[in-house]
Amino acid sequence: MRNSNSIMVFLLLAILSLRKPNSLACNEKEKQALLRFKQALTDPANRLSSWSLTKDCCRWAGVRCDNVSGRVFELHLGNPYNPFAFRFKSGPALGGEISPALLELEHLNFLNLSLNDFGGTPIPSFLGSMRSLRYLDLWGASFGGLIPHQLGNLSSLRHLYLGGNSGLYVDNFSWISLLSSLESLGMTWIDLHRDVHWLDSVSLLASLSELFLPNCQLNNMISSLGYVNFTSLTVLYLPSNNFNHNMPSWLFNLSSLQSLDLGDNSLQGQIPSTISNLQNLHYLNLSVNMLTGQIPESSGQLKHLTLVSLFSNSLCGPIPSRLGNLSSLSQLYLHQNKLDGSIPSSLGNLSSLSYLYLHSNKLNGTVPRNLGLLSNLVTLYIANNSIEGTVSEVHFAKLSNLKYLDASLTSVVFNVSHNWIPPFQLKYLLVGFCKMGPRFPLWLQTQRSLQNLELREAGIVDTAPKWFWKWASHIQIINLAYNQISGDLSQVLLNSTIFSVDSNCFTGQLPHLSPNVVALRMANNSLSGQISSFLCQKMNGRSKLEILDIPYNALSGELPHCLLHWQSLTHLNLGSNNLSGKIPELIGSLFSLKALHLHNNSFSGGIPLSLRNCTFLGLIDFGGNKLTGTIPSWIGERTHLMVLRLRSNEFFGDIPPQICRLSSLMVLALADNRLSGFIPKCLKNISAMATSPSPINDKFNALTYHINYIPYREGLLISIPYREGLLLVIKGRESNYDSILPLVRIVDLSSNNLSGGIPSEISSLFGLQSLNLSRNNLMGRIPEKIGVIRYLECLDLSNNHLSGEIPQSIINLTFLSHLDLSYNNFSGRIPSSTQLQSFDALDFIGNPELCGAPLLKNCTENEDPNPSDENGDGFERSWFYIGMATGFIVSFWGVCGALLCKRAWRHAYFKFLDNINDRVYLATVLKLSWLRYHFRRYRISLRCPRSCKQERMEERGSGES
Ligand SMILES: *[C@@H]1O[C@H](CO)[C@@H](O)[C@H](O)[C@H]1NC(C)=O
Ligand SMILES: *[C@@H]1O[C@H](CO)[C@@H](O)[C@H](O)[C@H]1NC(C)=O
Ligand SMILES: *[C@@H]1O[C@H](CO)[C@@H](O)[C@H](O)[C@H]1NC(C)=O
Ligand SMILES: *[C@@H]1O[C@H](CO)[C@@H](O)[C@H](O)[C@H]1NC(C)=O
Repeated sequence: MRNSNSIMVFLLLAILSLRKPNSLACNEKEKQALLRFKQALTDPANRLSSWSLTKDCCRWAGVRCDNVSGRVFELHLGNPYNPFAFRFKSGPALGGEISPALLELEHLNFLNLSLNDFGGTPIPSFLGSMRSLRYLDLWGASFGGLIPHQLGNLSSLRHLYLGGNSGLYVDNFSWISLLSSLESLGMTWIDLHRDVHWLDSVSLLASLSELFLPNCQLNNMISSLGYVNFTSLTVLYLPSNNFNHNMPSWLFNLSSLQSLDLGDNSLQGQIPSTISNLQNLHYLNLSVNMLTGQIPESSGQLKHLTLVSLFSNSLCGPIPSRLGNLSSLSQLYLHQNKLDGSIPSSLGNLSSLSYLYLHSNKLNGTVPRNLGLLSNLVTLYIANNSIEGTVSEVHFAKLSNLKYLDASLTSVVFNVSHNWIPPFQLKYLLVGFCKMGPRFPLWLQTQRSLQNLELREAGIVDTAPKWFWKWASHIQIINLAYNQISGDLSQVLLNSTIFSVDSNCFTGQLPHLSPNVVALRMANNSLSGQISSFLCQKMNGRSKLEILDIPYNALSGELPHCLLHWQSLTHLNLGSNNLSGKIPELIGSLFSLKALHLHNNSFSGGIPLSLRNCTFLGLIDFGGNKLTGTIPSWIGERTHLMVLRLRSNEFFGDIPPQICRLSSLMVLALADNRLSGFIPKCLKNISAMATSPSPINDKFNALTYHINYIPYREGLLISIPYREGLLLVIKGRESNYDSILPLVRIVDLSSNNLSGGIPSEISSLFGLQSLNLSRNNLMGRIPEKIGVIRYLECLDLSNNHLSGEIPQSIINLTFLSHLDLSYNNFSGRIPSSTQLQSFDALDFIGNPELCGAPLLKNCTENEDPNPSDENGDGFERSWFYIGMATGFIVSFWGVCGALLCKRAWRHAYFKFLDNINDRVYLATVLKLSWLRYHFRRYRISLRCPRSCKQERMEERGSGES
């Protein structure tokens, strides 16, 4: 039966395909016109190669003729485009000039030139004379300038898509009202703001069904007539404009409306109850506005509504319990608002509900038990709320379809019995910062489809069960950091792409790895054994490991030649272990290295010459070893270097002037060595220090690592940032800097044998926050213009032989919070400013000739000090701002770096908006917001370590400084 069917279909197709060549050959005049049209175009990829004299023009690529008359009917010359392909694909563009020869195609009805590249030239006005056109698509074809009014003559036009040409603008939109047959209009990104009466013109289009005007710089959607004539409108997309007024009343008369998107405007006021007039609405997006009040009760009458998207508003107040009356509601997106109160238990009545997004609100109270009735629920996101209380088996009783559960960043306590067998098979279990412990959750073992397990800081104080490791080998991402999980890893084989167990109590040797592991993070455990047995393990394939982050353990031994097996490494952190021996020359064969931390070990010998070959190196941290020799002059070739930390070693000789070629250098920490000679004057060439710290530091961003992965069938790139950290001594205390590291600018040359003067050029480094030259043999005066280094917070020049007066300009250092000038030969009066006088006298002692407050010694000539109005809390302020700026970087780059800034994605996103069906767009928006949310998670998860080993860390920390 099946067979005969398919044979019939085949025959039918064969007949159809045979018919075509039999149709009339093309009209000679039109053929010539098309050839002239082709001639004026540029076609680098020869897409129009089939357009030849010898062939029937109806069979040329992109040309369609009318079956009966043989006249050219349609031109499909859009650039092939696939918005769903992960790698954005589009063929090479046509360009050049659009020849008026097109006018000879009198029957042309369809013209698509989208996604070609006409280099910013205007849309030719003769297109307005092609009276038979019904479909015109010029999406994203790089047109620019004024849209010709002549297009208003296309009275047959049904579909007009001009969007995606951000260089286009409209001065007076009244011509649009002449297109009386228009059904669909897309103008994404076109600047329409010059015509304040745009709506009056558009609203006259009585046949209009779909209107897409996102990002058109529109300021108002007020109809001066008070009514609109486009009453057949089914789709109205006006997101990302700037309507900073209330929602206009005409909106709620559009009873045919199925999709309404007013997201990302500055809409004010409340959502009016007349919204219930929109009885055909399926999709409503009011996200990212300034709407206030509650969600109207009347929205409960929108029976067809399947998707409400109100996230990222400033909606506040509780979730109305009447939402529970919308029995057909299948997707409820209320995340990223300011909704408060508790989760209404009536939500348990929404029997069709599949997606419930409530995360990132201000919800409090407990998770209602009724949610356990939602047997169709696939996604339950309640993370990042003030929800508390216990969830037990009842809460999940009927959730047999649940696949994604995110309750992270709440105070929810999971209290399920030890032998619970849940009804679901999860893909994501994200319960970081909840309380799952103290016992290891045994029910995890029942989950066979997990891809992403986040149990960070979940209060687990237990031994990892025996089954765990084999079970875990199917899970792509595992984060167990900051628990107190113990277990011997010596026999464990890891297979996860990302495996993170920082700050736990694991013991034994490092685990074995499968070639699938890309990131292994086991900092701050109690792992021991020879590093060589890990590095020289036999592996069934080539390792993909890029991040090996295992500082703060007790690993020992020398770095073996097997280092060669790990050539994909980009970030290697072996700091604070018991490693010894020389840093082998082989290390230079890890040519992808971007960051190399070997600090606080017992390495000896010199800096290997082979590192000269690691051209991507941005961070070298060899501090706290027994390294010796001179600082190599080739270091100046590593121009990407941002951090050079060699403190507390036994380096000697001069600071090579080549170091000044490191224009990206932000941290130069050479303290506590035996360096001698002068401070190079050329330091002023280090431009990263000679500019003010800016919140977005692209270069450092390159060092920040993003682990990209595509979760199974999600079709979406997830990018998890990995940030570099560094132990730095600032203000006399050593602490770990990670998130603010991109903004830190430090020169620390203290505790060496440097001589000569402080070069006056140092005042060019006006981005510096910390300058420590103490404990050297420096002589001469403090550079007169020291006050120019205006971000300076820490200045330590103590224990040198500096002399002369303290320059008056020092009072301009308003952020200064740590100053030490003690034990020099300074003389004269300490300059007066409330700030300087607020330092301790100890910061000035040991200078017998120095006088004035805060020293007790009075100066002989008693002038009136002129008090400055600067106050001393600048330090707190500046670090506060830096902290804020860092938050911005992380969140900005989180989303932007991964997605928005990719041209391909942006195109895809806006192409959706214009003429593809709304569902696709919707999916994109949801994914975007989901991404935004996830990046926030990772930002939030930067917390101070708290673990069983914290004490040990603190001991070490204080031992070092
Ligand atoms: C617009 O609609 C109003 C009221 O329905 C009607 O009076 C008017 O004639 C319409 N205008 C046009 C141009 O169709
Ligand atoms: C939850 O928040 C609401 C509104 O902010 C408040 O009135 C209420 O007391 C809170 N409930 C609990 C249990 O904290
Ligand atoms: C290891 O991971 C890969 C992919 O990440 C997976 O295909 C494979 O089945 C896993 N191996 C084991 C033994 O779980
Ligand atoms: C650097 O790399 C080149 C080419 O791979 C190699 O010949 C040279 O020996 C390397 N230099 C050092 C110092 O390892």
